[in-house]
Amino acid sequence: MKILLTGADGQLGREVVRQSRNSGIHVDATDLPDTDIGRADHVRRAVAEYQPELVINAAAYTAVDKAELETEIAFQVNAGGPRHLAEACGSSGIPMVHISTDYVFNGTRQTPYGENDPLTPIGVYGVSKAQGETFVREILDRHIIVRTSWLYGVYGHNFVKTMLRLGAQQEEIRVVADQRGCPTSAADLAAALLSMIHQIGTGGVSEWGTYHYCGKGETTWFHFAEAVFERARSHTSLAVTRVVPISTTAFGAPAPRPAFSVLSCERIRQRFGIAQRPWIDSLDDTITRIYTDQ
Ligand SMILES: NC(=O)c1ccc[n+]([C@@H]2O[C@H](COP(=O)([O-])OP(=O)(O)OC[C@H]3O[C@@H](n4cnc5c(N)ncnc54)[C@H](OP(=O)(O)O)[C@@H]3O)[C@@H](O)[C@H]2O)c1
Repeated sequence: MKILLTGADGQLGREVVRQSRNSGIHVDATDLPDTDIGRADHVRRAVAEYQPELVINAAAYTAVDKAELETEIAFQVNAGGPRHLAEACGSSGIPMVHISTDYVFNGTRQTPYGENDPLTPIGVYGVSKAQGETFVREILDRHIIVRTSWLYGVYGHNFVKTMLRLGAQQEEIRVVADQRGCPTSAADLAAALLSMIHQIGTGGVSEWGTYHYCGKGETTWFHFAEAVFERARSHTSLAVTRVVPISTTAFGAPAPRPAFSVLSCERIRQRFGIAQRPWIDSLDDTITRIYTDQ
């Protein structure tokens, strides 16, 4: 199967490219500046040029705090981007796989969010991603939206890499302890996406729609940070000796974030046979890859 991947230089995009090499799926990878998904003409040109059988959109404006100020660009990319892609896929008669986020929910629940729960985003990033989902649903019947959460990996910027950098420099690190969610390794998500695409390609899928995929088990950023340091110490020495739990309010980030964003992943297991992996096992693998340059 021949697919076009947008946002190919991001942390998820790079994992999809890496894992596609021996998968029998041919990936044409594109990112800024060649394909700006916020521009309809770029998107139409990319689809015409590569002639894919399916598009995966891993491109997004992901700077959650900056989005509060750069509202226009966040909407251009996170809402306009999927809209243009869905329109181009519709014109070419091909399906699309779009990635979305736990931040489409406000986090006031205490039980895992299901795919059909109402969208209740808080903050510009969440609202823009929710609008992107809505465009995809309205424009393109043959779509798959995969929501994920707390994404990290070997490539790009993410919480794990920030903790490793700070942990090498500082004795004390303060980490938010009142937000609960599920860390998701970009490698696991890429494997899940490729498995879904393989099943679509072999005609094994009739169930389009929205799915959740995240690591198994919930935690807080504070416990996630502790786990990062514990595992990193088997590869290197760190300066950090104290991890201090603090509240969201004390941390004072510009954008609001859901206090609880655990996603139920039953549907992807039932319809695609894709199981969640314990987040702690995936963290182990990622940290090993980071330190051994794999
Ligand atoms: N990161 C998380 O914690 C998280 C959590 C839940 C869901 N998600 C979702 O997962 C998906 C992948 O996220 P990620 O963490 O891999 O993001 P990422 O590392 O920020 O990668 C996004 C990629 O998209 C590119 N991009 C930005 N604006 C673009 C545009 N207008 N046109 C084309 N490409 C553009 C970025 O380029 P530049 O780097 O040059 O801007 C980057 O290469 C996104 O849909 C995101 O919303 C992420």
